[in-house]
Amino acid sequence: MEKFKTAVVGSGFIGVAHIEALRRLGNVEVIALCDMFNVEKKAKENHIELAYTDYKKMIDETDLDFVHICTPNNTHFEIAKYALERNVNVVLEKPMTFTVEEALELVKLAKEKNLINAVNFHNRMYPANIFIKDYIRDNKIGDVFSINGNYLQDWLLFDTDYSWRLNTKESGSTRAVADIGSHWMDLVEYLTGLKIVEVFAEFKTVYPQRKKAIGEIKTFSVNEAAEYELKTIDTEDIALVMYRFENGAIGNVTISQMAAGKKNNLEVFISGTKASVKWGLDDLENVHIGYRDKPSLTITKDYGLMTIAKNAIDFPAGHTEGFPDAIKQVFKQVYSQPQNKNYAQFEDGLRQMILCEKIAESAKKSQWIKV
Ligand SMILES: NC(=O)c1ccc[n+]([C@@H]2O[C@H](COP(=O)([O-])OP(=O)(O)OC[C@H]3O[C@@H](n4cnc5c(N)ncnc54)[C@H](O)[C@@H]3O)[C@@H](O)[C@H]2O)c1
Repeated sequence: MEKFKTAVVGSGFIGVAHIEALRRLGNVEVIALCDMFNVEKKAKENHIELAYTDYKKMIDETDLDFVHICTPNNTHFEIAKYALERNVNVVLEKPMTFTVEEALELVKLAKEKNLINAVNFHNRMYPANIFIKDYIRDNKIGDVFSINGNYLQDWLLFDTDYSWRLNTKESGSTRAVADIGSHWMDLVEYLTGLKIVEVFAEFKTVYPQRKKAIGEIKTFSVNEAAEYELKTIDTEDIALVMYRFENGAIGNVTISQMAAGKKNNLEVFISGTKASVKWGLDDLENVHIGYRDKPSLTITKDYGLMTIAKNAIDFPAGHTEGFPDAIKQVFKQVYSQPQNKNYAQFEDGLRQMILCEKIAESAKKSQWIKV
């Protein structure tokens, strides 16, 4: 069996999830870790032999098959470009880059080099979503005419909540939309096969200034600092976005990082002329099919009930496969390159960068913007 040598850059919240998921594949060795802070300690904690603070040195000194880039958004482009130019396959975190131009350049470079490229839009890889995609493609819900939903979190509810995501220089010109809205948009385009062609958005920033704790604070952590500095906030906490899809369907999503009690609540509701389909992260093993003229159905993750998704099911029904499992399923496909790929590639990452840019433009101009 072919074995792969991989390095991870950035070992915060998602970097550690990458390391764990990679190890579960069995044919990948995470040989090196790169991080700007406390890398020796982090490498030791994660049982990784080589530790680097400079990704260039790491890529030059190790013979890598893949690099996984799990750092703040403004660093994705330079690290990915450096790796691709040296013939290393790249798995990027979302949002793919800082700007549309950077994403375009990476798409072009990966194509020229014929390298494997992926963006971790892992919500596609829940068995339920592979099932829904097939169900809609098979015309089981009829013609899709509306797509609704939300992506709600509450980790930025208080004015003392702060992370690099609130700094436009690290995060980008949209925040809630790029950070979590991109997951929703990637998912609905993937499930329905329909492209968004126009957007209209309204943004709200609840706190014009936030109190940033002095010292390093991890994403999603409870902030108990004694000293703060004031930071001006110029990105959205909440976005309401309306969509027009290529077939004439309409849609809307509420995106918020200040919805008290909602931890990571992504939901989609897709209506067609025969039936509707509903899925969400709070009930991720079930697909709800709604009918008007007969009893509605709930289809549960199960090898027999979701045969189309059987390659993404590794445990029997009733044994929940959640966030770490969906990420593992992305990597399973990335490292084995099956004929039918469900995972998002750089082209899909670029698509989300374009949508985020158009949504920001719409919020600024308060008008519909064509994509
Ligand atoms: N797919 C998902 O569901 C998902 C979930 C969380 C985060 N993300 C994405 O992953 C990326 C990282 O997010 P996070 O929540 O893990 O952030 P984090 O702040 O928890 O971790 C980032 C890590 O990168 C390190 N770092 C920063 N700059 C670096 C550099 N130049 N070189 C090496 N290391 C560097 C930091 O020290 C830190 O350890 C972001 O792009 C984010 O949008 C995706």
